[in-house]
Amino acid sequence: MKPRAETARGGPRVITSLQNERVKMIRALEMRKVRRETGQFTAEGASVLVSARDAGWKPVLLAFLAGSTGAGVPRDLLGWATHAGAECLEVSAAVLGKIAAKDNPQTMLAVFEQRWAEAPAPGDTPGDSLWVVLEGVRDPGNLGTIIRTADAVGASGIMLVGNCADPYSREAVRATMGSVFGVPLVRLQLREFLAWVQTWPGEVVGTHLAATDDFRSAAYRAPTLLLMGSEGPGLSAELAAVCSRTVKVPMAGRLDSLNLAVATALVLYEIRKDRLSL
Ligand SMILES: C[S@@+](CC[C@H](N)C(=O)[O-])C[C@H]1O[C@@H](n2cnc3c(N)ncnc32)[C@H](O)[C@@H]1O
Repeated sequence: MKPRAETARGGPRVITSLQNERVKMIRALEMRKVRRETGQFTAEGASVLVSARDAGWKPVLLAFLAGSTGAGVPRDLLGWATHAGAECLEVSAAVLGKIAAKDNPQTMLAVFEQRWAEAPAPGDTPGDSLWVVLEGVRDPGNLGTIIRTADAVGASGIMLVGNCADPYSREAVRATMGSVFGVPLVRLQLREFLAWVQTWPGEVVGTHLAATDDFRSAAYRAPTLLLMGSEGPGLSAELAAVCSRTVKVPMAGRLDSLNLAVATALVLYEIRKDRLSL
């Protein structure tokens, strides 16, 4: 799916056939295998695309409902995509229904190239660095919510360790509400992370149900790595072993644990409490 120069000159291409090759290719990006092979992903909705534009991303393709870009933000986004050399498709409602999410469908979606960052090198960790490390996160909704929260607290980025949900899946991207375009994402195998973490100059905080320190009583020393376990087994023994401290969020009810995204948000806000103000 490469940009087509003639789009910029000739205006958007009109597509009404559900059998169109482009329609099939956009739909195929729902599959993780195809996202992995192409290195691309889709994002839907004008406000999410505004986040992408404002963060300096450029789409390779923009599809929009016929007649919906006459004015305002949709028109601006069409101008942005055209200027970026993206292939622009004006599609019928039936085609949009095929390529957009079924629930809460949007009138515009775009295809982008995925971006993956490198883990910061030793010496490239400013004093206020705060990275969130997610081990084996399974739920794309949790992952997207954590990316959004990391953005909210001004975290440096997210490291995905081991076998994780895809942050570029439709569900994860939607849950980020545009933050996927602003938060650096790193992926590492467990062995790679265990080697890299030896170079980390600051504190390594793990969240663990067996911890005896209340997450509110700890003074977090920057730069900080926050390690979160997976929804199933929690933090592995290997990751727990590299923590300089482990903390727990107290719970009064009969539940075993908090939702991963909720626990991450609570601890992130505690770590950042002196830096965030209205
Ligand atoms: C749903 S929990 C996993 C529970 C898992 N059965 C276990 O034994 O750890 C997912 C992750 O959220 C975090 N978490 C959830 N509740 C927590 C709590 N009360 N205190 C600290 N971390 C918590 C931890 O990082 C945990 O690994």
